[in-house]
Amino acid sequence: MRRDVLLRLLFGALACLSLFLVNAEDPYRFFTWTVTYGTISPLGLPQQGILINGQFPGPQLDCVTNDNVVVNVINKLDEPFLLTWNGIKQRKNSWQDGVLGTNCPILPNSNFTFKWQAKDQIGSFFYFPSTAMHRAAGGFGGLNVNQRGPIPIPYPVPAGDFTLLVGDWYKAGHKAIRQSLDAGGALPLPDGILINGLPQGSVFTGDQGKTYKFRVSNVGLSTAFNFRIQGHKMKAVEVEGSHVIQEFYDSIDVHVGQSIAVLVTLDQPAGAYYIAASTRFTTSVLTATAVLRYSKSTAPVSGQIPPPPAFQLEGSILQARSFRWNLTANAARPNPQGSYRYGSITRTRSLVLANTASVVNGRQRYAVNGFTYVNPDTPLKLADYFNIPGVFSVDNIPAAPPATAAAPIFSTSVLRFNLRDFVEVVFQNNENDLQSWHIDGTDFWVVAYGSGQWDPSLRGRYNLVDATTRHTVQVFPNGWSAILMALENQGMWNVRSAMWARQYLGQQLYIRVWTPEKSTNNEYDIPANALLCGRARRS
Ligand SMILES: *[C@@H]1O[C@H](CO)[C@@H](O)[C@H](O)[C@H]1NC(C)=O
Ligand SMILES: *[C@@H]1O[C@H](CO)[C@@H](O)[C@H](O)[C@H]1NC(C)=O
Repeated sequence: MRRDVLLRLLFGALACLSLFLVNAEDPYRFFTWTVTYGTISPLGLPQQGILINGQFPGPQLDCVTNDNVVVNVINKLDEPFLLTWNGIKQRKNSWQDGVLGTNCPILPNSNFTFKWQAKDQIGSFFYFPSTAMHRAAGGFGGLNVNQRGPIPIPYPVPAGDFTLLVGDWYKAGHKAIRQSLDAGGALPLPDGILINGLPQGSVFTGDQGKTYKFRVSNVGLSTAFNFRIQGHKMKAVEVEGSHVIQEFYDSIDVHVGQSIAVLVTLDQPAGAYYIAASTRFTTSVLTATAVLRYSKSTAPVSGQIPPPPAFQLEGSILQARSFRWNLTANAARPNPQGSYRYGSITRTRSLVLANTASVVNGRQRYAVNGFTYVNPDTPLKLADYFNIPGVFSVDNIPAAPPATAAAPIFSTSVLRFNLRDFVEVVFQNNENDLQSWHIDGTDFWVVAYGSGQWDPSLRGRYNLVDATTRHTVQVFPNGWSAILMALENQGMWNVRSAMWARQYLGQQLYIRVWTPEKSTNNEYDIPANALLCGRARRS
């Protein structure tokens, strides 16, 4: 064969290959979501709700690992609005995180198109409005990332997949709640608890003998709940994108901001069974119910609504410790430094973050190590990108709580980290309330739950072998939770209380994960459609 023919063939093959690479790009999924007010009556009384495409709760976003998800959010409210994607790691892409530290809010009668990839994640998540207490009025929905063909999941594909958004609910509406918080009040107790927008009556139907997946998320503002199904055991399979050792539970505690997926086999006589969610560790217990109905059965639910477990922290702590990583499950999961053995990675930083509540000048505030967060006029990410000085303060939060209590300092605080730092964080809770902490941009191993004061000798009790990874961790009253995290995602990331009034009134901060080497291998450039506001606005 002549040499030029051979070359032409070779180039032809290369051209085909590059064409193939373009075609092999991960698929796109497009959504257009219009956000409006609408009247809803979840507790019987009409109130102003926040709807997406006319729906409360909002539409379910189903996608597949590595899909490119494009969501054009059109804001038809009378207030700026923003959505965040709870637990989607936004790899290299804090531009799309949808919190006030990374994005300008979407002004009324305008829109912003989020573009992100659920890169190497499989699991049960949800989205919600991140600003202005809008979450108290709706705007949240399920976000399920399913496995791609070649990635096996460690259980047979279920016969069906149900998404349950469960949360406390307030009759007051988001504007009244916000006014009360702005005026110095604390969040009152909730008026009810809802499952998919209803205190009772949601129905999930399946065939006798088959197994179904229930994805259960706590979308509430402030209250943990206990979840159970009359006469049925639940096998936990996934916690916030992490496949766990599959154990059976009669009931499961789900803390604010968390998600868990369980498998339920319809192995009882054909009929209808209560699904129940009750507020946990509250003096008066509120319960919502739904129905698990066997197809072909028309019988009504009967018998007693299964009662919640006793008000007892110990059982809840033991259950939290029972969620362990399935080390042999071959699924998308974090793999820092090429090793699943997170216990042997050297820690580069250690922080103890303590939450406090205090009244400052007659107003309720919440703080972290003595600092209470103030939203800036310019997103931190934009200030960083455009080198706008004076927007935030760096590294003022100390690595351990101050020894003596003082009035909290109002500050827009950012802690700086190096890309690939491996960090220990201990959340210390000296209050009598349950806490829930969330970190954007990464998940983390929850290596211990303890009571009393943490001290370094307690590191000996860490689970350094098969702790599960998640994005939101509860901290029991007068106790602590320890996490380890691999900061492999450059960007500006929110660390916040998932208890929404605490977040709103200062219990949050940002971490800036950074390397001086400027490369799109580490972080994408600012998106062309980025909204600009505050001091980043082009004049
Ligand atoms: C608003 O929506 C239009 C399409 O209707 C889109 O072209 C545009 O990029 C969106 N704006 C932003 C800021 O994303
Ligand atoms: C862990 O995952 C493996 C592999 O997918 C699966 O076969 C096994 O049943 C799981 N083990 C437990 C205890 O959940």
